[in-house]
Parts: sequence; C-alpha cells; structure tokens
Amino acid sequence: MGSRRNFIRKSLFGALAAGFASRYGYASGLIEKSVIQNQEFIKPTVISTWFHGLEANEAAWKIMQDGGSALDAVEKGVNVSEANPSVNSVGYGGLPDASGNVTLDACIMGSDGNAGSVACLQHILHPVSVARLVMEKTPHLMLSGDGALKFALDNGFRKTNLLTPEAKAAWKEWKKSGSSYAPMANWENHDTIGLVAIDHNGSIAGACTTSGMAFKHQGRVGDSPIIGAGLYVDNKVGAATATGEGEAVMKTLGSFLIVELMRNGMSPQEACEMAITRLLETIYVHKNMQVGYVAVNKAGETGAFSLKPGFQYALFQDNENKLFDAPYLMD
Ligand code: GLY
Repeated sequence: MGSRRNFIRKSLFGALAAGFASRYGYASGLIEKSVIQNQEFIKPTVISTWFHGLEANEAAWKIMQDGGSALDAVEKGVNVSEANPSVNSVGYGGLPDASGNVTLDACIMGSDGNAGSVACLQHILHPVSVARLVMEKTPHLMLSGDGALKFALDNGFRKTNLLTPEAKAAWKEWKKSGSSYAPMANWENHDTIGLVAIDHNGSIAGACTTSGMAFKHQGRVGDSPIIGAGLYVDNKVGAATATGEGEAVMKTLGSFLIVELMRNGMSPQEACEMAITRLLETIYVHKNMQVGYVAVNKAGETGAFSLKPGFQYALFQDNENKLFDAPYLMD
C-alpha cells in the first residue's frame, strides 16, 4: 500500500513537473542529461574569489586531476586559505571580532543537493571540514557556536589558536581608534573565499569559508554559512558563491538568485550582473559597500561581477589558473 501510494505520488509529481517545465521552458533536466551522456561537454572548472583563490584553485584542481570529486576538491581547496595566516579574512590569521575572538563561518554543498554549515565557530582550523561532517553525519544543516565546537571536538578536530600576532596587533590598533565599526570595501583586498567546481564527471560542488567582517559585533554571523546566500549549488544548473558584505548578500539571497537566473536562461555573467543590480533596486547601498559574485553553469561557462571596483577572482580551466579583475557596477 505504502509503495503504491509512493508510486502515485511520484507519478503525480512527475506529471506536474513536466507540465511546469513545458509551460516555463524549464530545460535544466535536458541540460544535465546531455552533459552527463556526452563526456566531451564536461568542462572541469574551478572558480573562486580573490587573489588567494589561486592557491585554493591549485589544490582543488589537483584533486580533480587525480580523479577526485568536486566535493573533495572544494573542501581541500578552501582548506588552503583557511590555513594561510596571510589571508586575514579566513581561518587562521583571520581578524577577530570586537571582543578579540576569531569566529568562523563556513558551508559546503554537493551535487546531490546536500549541504552543511557552521556559524560562529571558534578554535578550529578548518571550519569547512566541520561543515562537511555536519552534512554527512547529522540530520542537520547548520551547527553554531559552542555546539559546533563540541561537535568538531567530538569528531577528532583539535583546538588551535587562530589569532596570529599580526591579527591581534590589528585588533589592538582598532580598539585604540575608538572601536567604531564601519564595513570597508575591499578591506586590504582580502575577503571570504568562495569556490565552486565541476569535476570530470560533470558533478558540481561549492564551499565558502570566512572569519567574517573584521571587528564585527560579537555573535555576528554573515552570509558565508547561509545556503542560498553565500553559496548555492544545483547540479542541473550550476553554482554561485559570494564575497563582501554579508548583510547585503543575505538580504538578497544572492547565490540562490544567480542559480535561479541561470536556470531561467541567463548566462553566469548576466546572472551575476543581475544579482548585483538587485542590491541597488532593493536595499540601501552605503558608500563603502562591496559585494562580489562568481558563478559557473553546467556547461562550464563562468561569470563574475561586483558592486565596486577591486574584486578579483581566480579561474582554473583548460590547465590554466588565472587571476582576473571582475567587471563592476559603480565607482
Ligand atoms: N562575506 C563574509 C561576511 O560578510 O561575513
């Protein structure tokens, strides 16, 4: 009886989906089928945010070259930025919050639509790897704060002091200056790393990890662990990820928007431009705001766009890893 009911439900859903698809010209299922059945259409790709994306791309690409999955590639790729103390907006070396604590946000999403994330996690070098375990080992999507730390420690992660002497000195300077907080575009030209990849099987995955805005209010969580804001993957369509002022990205759910725009026929470039334009249309854009997006579609076409100048992205395709200046909306 149960299986008959399931069969009827599935048939009904299938019929409804087909009707919807033909009414709205929604053909992503066809795109996926053609890509998967025709190996020559698969274009392995790694695209990520900022200069430090170059070294993350290298690690991700190597994993895929060795036959690894996009999911492994995105995790190991951003692990490189998390461990690099000179990247002062991600992981070890990240600038602390207003109270001097480094708190990390991260998420990961796979080609099966599954996702995991951590928010406001302290003392753990690789928050994105904890996010992956949340995805794989729990029925939940997001763990935060002390609960996320406990989960990490219970699963073999070790406590690490993430506050480097340089980050501590910067925090002390900031405190001397009166502790006023104002978000700055391209703060020292570093920000969140978001990285999305297509592997040799045509599977898409993405990851995003950050220490968030420098000197943020204690407890503040940005867009990077929010699925649909800092990152979104739909294996039939493509993926997008964000960098910059998380509040703006969350208010407009930018990465999900970009994937939906691609689903409805836009190129990744058009979709990134539309998502940035949407900021201007819908929220207050202050003069120091910076937001940037990168995206890839199922065919391996890529796009990048930012609100202000200065956003760079790294693209690895056809055995070449290159840094580009993203086009932008306004000076
Ligand atoms: N995009 C990183 C943040 O706002 O926390």
